[in-house]
Amino acid sequence: MPVSKNAVLPILAASLMVDGESCINNCPKLSDVYACIKITESTGSVAFFENDSLCVIYKDSNITQVPEELCRAMRSSVLYLAPLLYRKGRVTISLPGGCNIGNRPVDIHLAGLEKLGAKVEISDGKITVSALQGLKGTQIKLRVPSVGATQTLIMAAATAKGLTVLKNCAREPEVVDLVRFLNLAGAKIAGAGRNEIIIQGVQSLAGVSYTPVADRIVAATLLAAVNACKGVCIINNYPAEYMQQFENLLKQTGLGIVHYSDSAMVYKYAHVKNNINVHTGFYPAFSTDMGPLLSGAMVNNKGALNICETVFENRFSYCSEFEKLGIKCSVNDRCYTQNGYKNHSEDATLKAQDLRAGAALVVAALAKQGCCEIEGVEFIDRGYEKIEEVFSALGADIRRIQLD
Ligand code: UD1
Repeated sequence: MPVSKNAVLPILAASLMVDGESCINNCPKLSDVYACIKITESTGSVAFFENDSLCVIYKDSNITQVPEELCRAMRSSVLYLAPLLYRKGRVTISLPGGCNIGNRPVDIHLAGLEKLGAKVEISDGKITVSALQGLKGTQIKLRVPSVGATQTLIMAAATAKGLTVLKNCAREPEVVDLVRFLNLAGAKIAGAGRNEIIIQGVQSLAGVSYTPVADRIVAATLLAAVNACKGVCIINNYPAEYMQQFENLLKQTGLGIVHYSDSAMVYKYAHVKNNINVHTGFYPAFSTDMGPLLSGAMVNNKGALNICETVFENRFSYCSEFEKLGIKCSVNDRCYTQNGYKNHSEDATLKAQDLRAGAALVVAALAKQGCCEIEGVEFIDRGYEKIEEVFSALGADIRRIQLD
């Protein structure tokens, strides 16, 4: 299992706060990672792969602006606000882009930075944040437990003067991982994984070598594929601690899982008919990123699946594509329903419209008869390193077609 993309990206941004060289071990070579490397380099610092480790060396420069096209390319560009504010006292980014899964404002990031003493200006689609005298610790209650905003405010408070108390924080494993990295680098942060995080600011951070947590969403993709296609798969470096909910749902539909050491053996023994109902939500509720994969997992099951989405507005872009495969599915407001097949279409051309929807299409396509062509592979490449090689190794006939 690769390490988690969603853990790597904030750690990569936070590496700019660290003096000397900082390395992220087993770093996946994903397009989102390369996009962040470009942001790091655009600010005058150095980022390079040394075998499987991605290393960053902060270099002083007078660049305070991240180019617009890099910000528009990915949502995680917003994670550079706090590190660059610490280094330069002033930073300008463009309103960030990213996967089209819904309206993704950054107001909680900005409101928190303001509370820490920063000045925030927004004009012409650009955000400028300044704090020439540095930030000052305070108490902040996040409006909703946003993962990214929690990470921004942890980074900002890590080197602010005095004590910061963050309330209503995101509790996702990727938040915990950022804190582990920062604490190893010399930060003083307590409470990660709980909704209140307490941070005593320090003056500086020192370079470390860090291995992030394994990717729970990639793990869910493999479980989904076994559930949909049958067979057996052994997953090493398996993040069992974070997989319980997804495992429990698929166990109800006939998936077997044996854990041993840091591995899991996953096998499908029958398509057991059971209805599944889930609401997505903030951790520890069911992950919004796992919803599309649960849909992929269930394509060959007889029971009905209902997913109600509470985090993003537009998570079900795969529904229209599943229909092309003959799958009986529909979206009503924020809820998605799926229940077996209407008919079994043969060949189909499907369009990935965001990262996890794209992965769900791969799973569904592997599970059906006939040949599928999936367009929009660039979305899938954001979060999966050579997905075709992973599934080929599991016996799938899957190839990447280069279109000129
Ligand atoms: C991260 C993950 C993404 C996952 C999401 C929710 C990364 C790189 N991405 O995204 O895969 O789907 O968490 O688990 O880690 N919100 C605001 N204002 C803000 C910030 C967020 O209203 O300033 C809202 C969002 O619109 C959304 C909700 O809060 O409705 C959660 O978003 P957030 O947790 O911030 O998601 P990301 O950190 O962008």
